[in-house]
Amino acid sequence: MSQPLTDRHSRIHRSLRISIVDKCDLRCTYCMPEDQHFLKREELMTREEIGTIARLFVERYGVNKIRLTGGEPLLRPDVVDIVRDMIELPVSLGLTTNAMNLHKHLDGLYEAGLRKLNVSLDTFDAERFRTIARRDGYWTVWNNVRRAHDKGMRIKLNMVVMRGVNDDEILRFVQLTEHNDIHVRFIEFMPFAGNHWGRERVYTYAEMLGHIGSVYSFEKLTDDPHSTAKAYRVPGWSGTFAVISTVTEPFCGNCDRLRITAEGKMRNCLFAREETDLLSALRRGEDIAPLIEANVLAKHAMLGGLPQFKPEKQEEVLHDLSARPMVSIGG
Ligand code: 5AD
Ligand code: SF4
Repeated sequence: MSQPLTDRHSRIHRSLRISIVDKCDLRCTYCMPEDQHFLKREELMTREEIGTIARLFVERYGVNKIRLTGGEPLLRPDVVDIVRDMIELPVSLGLTTNAMNLHKHLDGLYEAGLRKLNVSLDTFDAERFRTIARRDGYWTVWNNVRRAHDKGMRIKLNMVVMRGVNDDEILRFVQLTEHNDIHVRFIEFMPFAGNHWGRERVYTYAEMLGHIGSVYSFEKLTDDPHSTAKAYRVPGWSGTFAVISTVTEPFCGNCDRLRITAEGKMRNCLFAREETDLLSALRRGEDIAPLIEANVLAKHAMLGGLPQFKPEKQEEVLHDLSARPMVSIGG
């Protein structure tokens, strides 16, 4: 019998994101600080440990959604084996990737049963890609997105919208959904350690809708109760677009996500400053269930206890930010 994990507001937590590696072959400015240090191999969860932890969350607590993330999960040589292990669980499985290495793994992932990919793509301009990601790779990524789409993967494209950097490409991303069954998600630029965030650099949800609405008429779609994205469609178009408004309209009340970092630490929120070391306890042969339950019960009502991202709170937010950058938490 599975018991749902509940927090102090009796909210059920059924979605688990597992980071399987902290490294990345890109260095996106919004995600990775210049001086990022990476874990040693023995600090990462092994394939077996990932399986053990995931199984516990599913069988004991009724988790029914798992997303594999990084860093960049396709940098792990055993990623296809890990996907195969996860597919055996009664969950809906997805993987978040930058698609730089997708051509090497696409057939393997597909044959293992994976059908859902979230791809990070912030621009359609190769030069701009290099500026944002601090590496070349636009054509590799774009060709891989096409390849995966043609193979039958369900693709969500994640675009982090930053004012003055790529906000002029929003309409191009929307346009892509006319003839392609692709789901674009515009993400408000969020503050993480070392990413030079400022409230003035956030291109807001309201601005996005205003901008898109000045050119296209669109309709609201019904969102899943636990969805963090607000979805829309231009009537008659094949794909959809959505906005993830963490900064201007946080959706913490509906969030049912839990996270495990690549070193096996559990976090109950993207912005959490506390974490619980499941892996060390597991390696000592201890029962990790009480640790999991205590971690969920300690969840803050909003934004991991950060003050809201109001302009006048900016200093406080930046001061309070976790020492951990996004790349090591896992999207
Ligand atoms: N703000 C918003 N989204 C971010 N991501 C990473 N850093 C940020 C940030 N600062 C998202 C990227 C990627 C996923 C892994 O996390 O869109 O798709
Ligand atoms: Fe790598 Fe994704 Fe972070 Fe970019 S956003 S540095 S691709 S983990």
